[in-house]
Amino acid sequence: MKKFKVGIVGLGHRGRYMIMLVKQCFECAEVVAACDIDPKLWDETQWQQNTPMKEQLPGVKFYVDYNQMLEEADLDLVLVETGADVHAEFCIKALEHNINVFSDIPSVANLSEAKRLWEAEQRSTGKLMTGANPNEWGFINALVDLYQKGLLGEPYYMEAEYIHSVKTQGTNNPYLAHSPWRKTLPPIRYCTHSLGPLLRIMKEALRYVVCLGTGVHINPEALRDDMQAALFQTESGVTIRLLRNGACRAFIGLHSYRVFGTKGYFERIDSRGKTEPVVRFRSDELYAADTITELPHLMMANEYIDNPKAGGHGGADYALLDHMFKAMIEGKDMPISLRDGLLMTLPGIYAAESAVRKGEKLTIHYPWEEEFAADIEKYKI
Ligand SMILES: NC(=O)c1ccc[n+]([C@@H]2O[C@H](COP(=O)([O-])OP(=O)(O)OC[C@H]3O[C@@H](n4cnc5c(N)ncnc54)[C@H](O)[C@@H]3O)[C@@H](O)[C@H]2O)c1
Repeated sequence: MKKFKVGIVGLGHRGRYMIMLVKQCFECAEVVAACDIDPKLWDETQWQQNTPMKEQLPGVKFYVDYNQMLEEADLDLVLVETGADVHAEFCIKALEHNINVFSDIPSVANLSEAKRLWEAEQRSTGKLMTGANPNEWGFINALVDLYQKGLLGEPYYMEAEYIHSVKTQGTNNPYLAHSPWRKTLPPIRYCTHSLGPLLRIMKEALRYVVCLGTGVHINPEALRDDMQAALFQTESGVTIRLLRNGACRAFIGLHSYRVFGTKGYFERIDSRGKTEPVVRFRSDELYAADTITELPHLMMANEYIDNPKAGGHGGADYALLDHMFKAMIEGKDMPISLRDGLLMTLPGIYAAESAVRKGEKLTIHYPWEEEFAADIEKYKI
């Protein structure tokens, strides 16, 4: 079988990890090109590495110029692993060359990009896969399974939090030192890890948002709120409370979710000190599940439990790539589409604007809706 020729743009710590996962685990793919504006990331050993990328990927051509890579490398797929606020331009250019794209999250940084990216994919023979790895976690599959079996009823209120505390700050922190967007991105815009899994059990898009931020208390170098809390709502009233942070001194597990359904309840509460992460559920619909019951906590999806290659965020990174390559081989749509990515990204952009407007309630639109163009003019976000 012909192998997919794969390139990558963005050789930060995430990009370096993802391209090695492709090289080491997927026989259907051949890594042929890599690009970053900083050649040191190719030539020199970096944080969490023993050898430089150029030695780990012999025979792969390195580019400083992304346009040149797209012109020359004859790619079937490009991994976009640039900073969280600069994905869309790279994705649009690849789609204009009819190249498939794996885009890390969030999908876009503003409404205008969302419109242009949406239109670029419509015109292209390439397709975009959204790199929303939490959608692939085992305990999220369990939530979807319980929901699809009718054991939770319909969700009417949900909560999610993503709390990312780091012990060191500023230039001592390898994340912050190399990734400027980690100091500037309003935390609520990094919302896809929280909203993506919940959207898997929802029948409607998020339509309304109010959001407030705390200002800066923890990291004086940060240029945005330390914490932001948003309330989202659908047209029928399904409500989600989301807490995101830029900096805090909590040092608790990162990702928690709670789902209140008409017939049951589900929660995944991440670790707290020595207390391991826990998944619990109850249901009106199942014998002996009327009291809250603990379920096994599995990061890894069932289909990969015996697969030694399945690594990265509890196997979710492998699962993303595996599902994407299988779809490409079978000529199917990407399993987490651009539309899915925009449904989980755009609510965060409107939420950040609501926080700027001191909690004003905003109506969320999407590029496939008529009202979206007017929002681009109105909000300029
Ligand atoms: N899904 C996850 O679990 C997860 C985890 C970590 C990071 N991420 C995402 O992965 C992405 C990368 O994260 P990171 O921490 O590695 O970021 P980073 O800022 O450390 O790295 C981004 C790289 O892109 C390069 N770049 C910027 N502009 C460029 C251009 N014009 N041409 C070529 N290269 C360019 C930068 O030089 C940098 O090396 C982000 O979008 C982030 O949101 C996702």
